[in-house]
Amino acid sequence: MDIKISPSVLASDLSRLADECIAMSKAKAHMVHLDIMDGHFVPNITFGAPLIKSLRGKTDIIFDVHLMISRPDLYIDDFVKAGADIISFHVEANCDIGETLRKIRDAGVKSALAIKPGTAVEAALPYMDLVDMILVMTVEPGFGGQSFMADMLPKIEYLRENYTTIDIQVDGGINAETAKLVVDAGANVIVAGSYLFAQNDYTKAVATLYETCTNNQRHR
Ligand code: DX5
Ligand code: ZN
Repeated sequence: MDIKISPSVLASDLSRLADECIAMSKAKAHMVHLDIMDGHFVPNITFGAPLIKSLRGKTDIIFDVHLMISRPDLYIDDFVKAGADIISFHVEANCDIGETLRKIRDAGVKSALAIKPGTAVEAALPYMDLVDMILVMTVEPGFGGQSFMADMLPKIEYLRENYTTIDIQVDGGINAETAKLVVDAGANVIVAGSYLFAQNDYTKAVATLYETCTNNQRHR
């Protein structure tokens, strides 16, 4: 599986968000990860579709939009129109999961289902035919800069063993060390926020992370 790096802009200088996205595009990140939080599904608020729409005019990089909101079904149209390329939402959300995944795909956008640390991987299995990517949270969603939960690795292993060609994304606490563990387990789409944006040279940071991941992949 191709490794894809998705820097989470939550950890960037938000006053210069467009420039930060452009810089990650130049640094050859495959996409940027945009965390949408509603203060209800998670105890934090970030930003919404209007911000994504205004960013869309500034860069062609793939927008990987992670919805941490209670009613994703009500906002899919907004995020599609704003220019999302991939939309993930949580299996724990309060909506018809299958119908919402179909809605994303019908709009020509890639669909992804996210699972919180406390949710068993089995919760996502009925929907595997409807998803382009599955997102295994490796921290409790809500905040950047938290510590990686190694006890999520068996979820990744299980998914990779049973779904050999699906994109498996990991999000939360990824750095040069934890990246090795997740790619060895079978993840191939790597979200990293605080680790990447803390570095001065994004090009070097992204290239080094790609190299680390590629070298530690067990399932190719
Ligand atoms: C957490 C978010 C993550 C977060 C990752 O709720 O979904 O995308 O920004 O940040 P780091 O890489 O700092 O853990
Ligand atoms: Zn995220």
